[in-house]
This record gives sequence, C-alpha cells and structure tokens, in this order.
Amino acid sequence: MNILIADDEKMQRDMLKNFLLKKGYDVKTASNGKKALSMFSKHPFQLVLLDHKMPDINGDKVLAKIKKNNPLTHAIMITAYGSINTAVETMKLGADDFLEKPVDLLQLLDRIQIIEQRIIIEKEVIDVTKILKTQKLPIKFIGRSQPIKEVLSMAHRIAATPWAVLIRGETGTGKELIARLGHLLSTVKDGSFTEVNCGAIPDNLFESELFGHEKGAFTGASSTRKGKFELAKNGTIFLDEIGEMPLHLQPKLLRVLQENKISKIGSEKEISVNVRIVAATNRNLKKMTRLGLFREDLFYRLNVFDIEIPPLRHRKEDIPDLVDFFLKRFNLKPVAFDPDAMSTLIKYDFPGNVRELEHIIQRTVTLIRGNRVKVSDLPPEIRFHKASCQGSLTKKMEALEQEMIILSMEKHAWVQTQAAESLGISERVLRYKIKKHKIKKPEQI
Ligand SMILES: Nc1ncnc2c1ncn2[C@@H]1O[C@H](COP(=O)(O)OP(=O)(O)OP(=O)(O)O)[C@@H](O)[C@H]1O
Ligand SMILES: [Mg+2]
Repeated sequence: MNILIADDEKMQRDMLKNFLLKKGYDVKTASNGKKALSMFSKHPFQLVLLDHKMPDINGDKVLAKIKKNNPLTHAIMITAYGSINTAVETMKLGADDFLEKPVDLLQLLDRIQIIEQRIIIEKEVIDVTKILKTQKLPIKFIGRSQPIKEVLSMAHRIAATPWAVLIRGETGTGKELIARLGHLLSTVKDGSFTEVNCGAIPDNLFESELFGHEKGAFTGASSTRKGKFELAKNGTIFLDEIGEMPLHLQPKLLRVLQENKISKIGSEKEISVNVRIVAATNRNLKKMTRLGLFREDLFYRLNVFDIEIPPLRHRKEDIPDLVDFFLKRFNLKPVAFDPDAMSTLIKYDFPGNVRELEHIIQRTVTLIRGNRVKVSDLPPEIRFHKASCQGSLTKKMEALEQEMIILSMEKHAWVQTQAAESLGISERVLRYKIKKHKIKKPEQI
C-alpha cells in the first residue's frame, strides 16, 4: 500500500515514515498541506495520514479536497490530544479514522491494517458488481453497507473454491439469496442449484430423498429415482435449515461429505458425486454441538468457510435501498415514501429482517390510495415501535394503551362501541382515552 504522510513537524514525519517503511509500506512525505495536495494530484495514494493542524492549509481542507478528487482514497487524521470534537468533524468529512497525538505506533499499524482489509473488500465488491452487471444474473442483491460489502466479498472469494460453505444468519436475512448468488459466481454455475430443506424431510424418506432408490428397493418404490445429491451433480446442493436435521440422520450426510460417493437404496453401486455443498442455518450450530444436538464432525465438515449475514437492524443504512427495490417490484404505479415515514421505518428493529421489510412494503403499496406513503400508512407495529420501547414504565404503559386502542379501532372500522367492547372498557372510558392520547382516524381509512 502506498501512503502519503502530511505533517509540518519534521520529527513526527520522520518517525512515522521510518516506522511504516520498516513495516514494508511505500511511503512519501509532505511538509505542508499545499505540498500534500500537489503530490496527491501526481500519485494515486491509497492512504493519507494527515496532521490536523498545519500552518498553510489545515488537515480538514486537505482532506475535503482529496476526497473530492478521489472519494476512494482512505485517510487517517492525526489530531491534538483530547480534541474529540475535531475528531467527530473529521470523520464526517470522510476520514476512516483518527489518532490522537502522541501517536501510538502499534495502534496506527492496526488501523492501517483495517483499511488494507477494507481496500481488498472494496475491490472484491467492485468485481462482484461487475460480474453481476456483465453476466446479467437473475438475482439482485441489494445493500451497500460495510457488513454487506463484507458478505459479498466473502461470497466472491469462496466462489472459486470447492469447499463447503455454511451461511449463518437470522431468519429472512437473505441466506438463500446469498447461496444462489454464490452458485452463480462459482465454477459450477452451469450445473444446477438443488435445494434440500433438511428440517422438512420425514425420517423414513430421508435416504431416498437424498440418495435415491432403485425400483423395488422398498414397498412403494415403483420406479428408480434419483436423489438430490445425484441431481445436484456438477452443481451446488443447498442444505437449508441444516440445524433442523435430526441427529440420527446426520451420520448419513457426513458419509457423503467424507467420501463424495453415494449409493441408491437397493443398489450396491457407488456413484461419485461432485457437488458443491452450501448449508444454511439460523441456529447457533457451535452451541448445538456443545449441547450434543448437532454432530461436531459434521459441523466442521460444513463449516470450512462461513458467511454470517448480519440482521437488518445492524445495517440500517441498507433500508432505503431495499425499500426502493421492493417499491419498484410490487408497485403498479409510482409511489414514494414521505421522509417521516422512512425515518419511522428505519427506527424499527425488523425481527423478521429483509423478508419482513419486503412484506411490509408489499402490503403498504397494495393498500395505499395516493402515491405517497405516510406514517399513518405503515402497520401499527412500526408506528408504535419507538414509543413502546423507550422511557419509564408509565410511558411504556401509556404507549401500549395507545397502541391497543388504535389496533382495536382499526379492527372495528373505527366503530367505538365495538372497539370498547373488545377492549373490555366502557364506551365512555374509551372516548376519554381517545381524547387523552389524541387518537385520530387517519384520512385514508
Ligand atoms: N439483500 C437483499 N436484496 C434483495 N432482496 C433480499 C435481500 N435479502 C433478502 N432479500 C429477500 O428477502 C426474502 C428473504 O430472503 P431469504 O429467503 O434469502 O432469507 P433466509 O435468510 O433464507 O430466510 P429463512 O431463514 O427464513 O429461510 C427473499 O424474498 C429475498 O429475495
Ligand atoms: Mg431460507
């Protein structure tokens, strides 16, 4: 990596330079902001270490110009001790990090290594995006957040290897989508993508389903049948919900993974199966192995590489892009979100992750009358989420009361007698509470 150090203090400059040269980096120095900018315009530095306080142009201005010139350049700002406000401003300008003086060299090295890792990831994401564009893959994977970039880069890196991959993540995070994407990026993309829901196969059909059977192998086997492994030959087999696979069936799967061979029920003949194994789970398999609920040897066979897809609440910056994507998908007419509605949506935690967001958008655009989604168009669990999660017990109870009243009123088409009855209160009390909570019937309803 090539690094530019801009600092007006010679001692500091030399100290940083010598340290980084020793660590094998390609380092150049500039003694003021102006020189830094002129050097930057001649060389494409990947990282700039900027002293915040320089006599001619200060670090902030240099950073702003550098970022304008090349937004992909990385920067670490070096600020005076205790200047946290400066640091916050600096990060807003696009610095990757900041370090206070005196600079702790090991900390600096650590930060540089993190940036190096980010550069690799960015490059891989660009590669994946190019592949996705040029090959016109049937899958669109939305997300620009750092955790998603890391997922895509991992999917890309392991796509070329023949090893098993375990995809982990809460329900609805996109595990299947990543498995399909991984298949399309892999060397076996011309083969099929065969899905097996490991939790849904009845015990007595397990072997026949996975390995196939010969005609007459058991009562009801009226013809020869190929199993999923044979069907997946030269392609990918996707073992979904692997954590649901009953313990006593796990050795059978392990054998195939170890030997790459199967034999149909009722046949002695071994068929070699060259398949890429991708498994997915929303459970903690490692913990399950400790509790004796999942075989450890199978876990290690499947977990050669693992990809963890973070929940949507940990990458909220992806929400607007996903909303746009789903709006286009479900929409018959152009619909846009009011900024208030969008920020209410972003505050929600999405326990059902992307799938839940997808359903919310689908429901909202189907029911909406106009062409703007307002806060009142969002489902109640989202509208009241914030109120019901914060504050004192009294506030929470108030919020809950308000939520229950609105839900009940909506359910009974805003007929107070029926709502009051279902809530178990008198109509008079309901009227009082409606007034207290300033509950109004939304215009659209
Ligand atoms: N990043 C994304 N971009 C676009 N669509 C997505 C994304 N992530 C998930 N989805 C959509 O959300 C839904 C759920 O995704 P998927 O089925 O891959 O999740 P999952 O993790 O396998 O869920 P489960 O654990 O419930 O099986 C799908 O309709 C999928 O197309
Ligand atoms: Mg799934």
